Amino acid sequence: MSYQNSKIAEVADVLRQRFKELDNKSDLLKATELRALYAEIPTLAPEERAGFGQEINQLKNELEAMVQNAQDESVDIEPIDVTAPFDINVPHDKRPGLLPTELGGRHPLMVELDEILDIFYRMGFEAVESRQIDNEYYMFDSLNFPKDHPARDDYDTFITEDGFIAPAHTSVMQNRVLKQHKQSLEAGKPIAVVVPGRVFRNEDLDARHEHTFYQLEGVYVAKGVNVGHLMATLKEFMKAYYQRDVEIKTQPFYFPFTEPSFEFAISCPFCNKAGCHVCGEGWIELLGCGMIHPNVLREAGIDPEVYTGFAWGVGFMRMAMIKYNIDDIRHFESAKLEFLRQFK
Ligand code: DAH
Repeated sequence: MSYQNSKIAEVADVLRQRFKELDNKSDLLKATELRALYAEIPTLAPEERAGFGQEINQLKNELEAMVQNAQDESVDIEPIDVTAPFDINVPHDKRPGLLPTELGGRHPLMVELDEILDIFYRMGFEAVESRQIDNEYYMFDSLNFPKDHPARDDYDTFITEDGFIAPAHTSVMQNRVLKQHKQSLEAGKPIAVVVPGRVFRNEDLDARHEHTFYQLEGVYVAKGVNVGHLMATLKEFMKAYYQRDVEIKTQPFYFPFTEPSFEFAISCPFCNKAGCHVCGEGWIELLGCGMIHPNVLREAGIDPEVYTGFAWGVGFMRMAMIKYNIDDIRHFESAKLEFLRQFK
């Protein structure tokens, strides 16, 4: 920026020089030289005043811009902590209040899970937790999925670069449970285990599908176990969970790890098969189940000629949605307090 008036040009040079040395850059705007220039305006001939005044204003703008730039550079904004529950640059009084723990509550899903486990404890089952990272052997091979069989596509899930798999079902625990209890089975004690766990799928998300959800696996093995035992066990469980008498209905299905395999439905606990907004047509499909495939028993070292067993896998979020009339599975992991508080 250059100035025609020599006096203004001189002041500009002096102030630009001084600016470099100032500790507090905004002091530049208080320079007496600048004020002196303004004070000179009334002393000028009227025809000179306008041009002179304009140039002083230009100088003032130049100085202000210099100060502003310097401030922008020096403002030391704290880096954002991406793990913080709020932006740490927000002033203290504008931050979200953190709830004291006594106002918190247990997550509804965990409350339901406890209730479900209680029912199975009373039926003689013990519980082990599933895992959240696994491998191809437990996810597929040990469950009698032939290599490259299209049935594997139904369990499309997340995989790490090292080839570890985020389990798409709690059935990854079957082989472990069977192996672990093989000895006590041979000593005459049936295997009766339920396995709750978080599972993952590559899903198109909607009101019924989440990429992360929860299942409860069940495994029962002894001598002389048949489909009747499977159906009776699941029916008793459903009655206890919904606190109503329910009818059950099955239809054949295909899982590589069971033979025969079934889809299992209950009569709607709300309308008793009349049809309502919960069930649609009177029946609710809830789970997959079947008699454990001989290859799965054999893989765990259990002789399928001597022992038979049944297994099932149920998405217990869906069971809870039906029980409480929850219309969207995504509410559970939404962290919305309006939703969560209803279950306290
Ligand atoms: N793992 C199956 C699924 O997620 C559910 C299932 C079906 C589990 C039958 C079982 C079973 O143990 O026997 O689709």
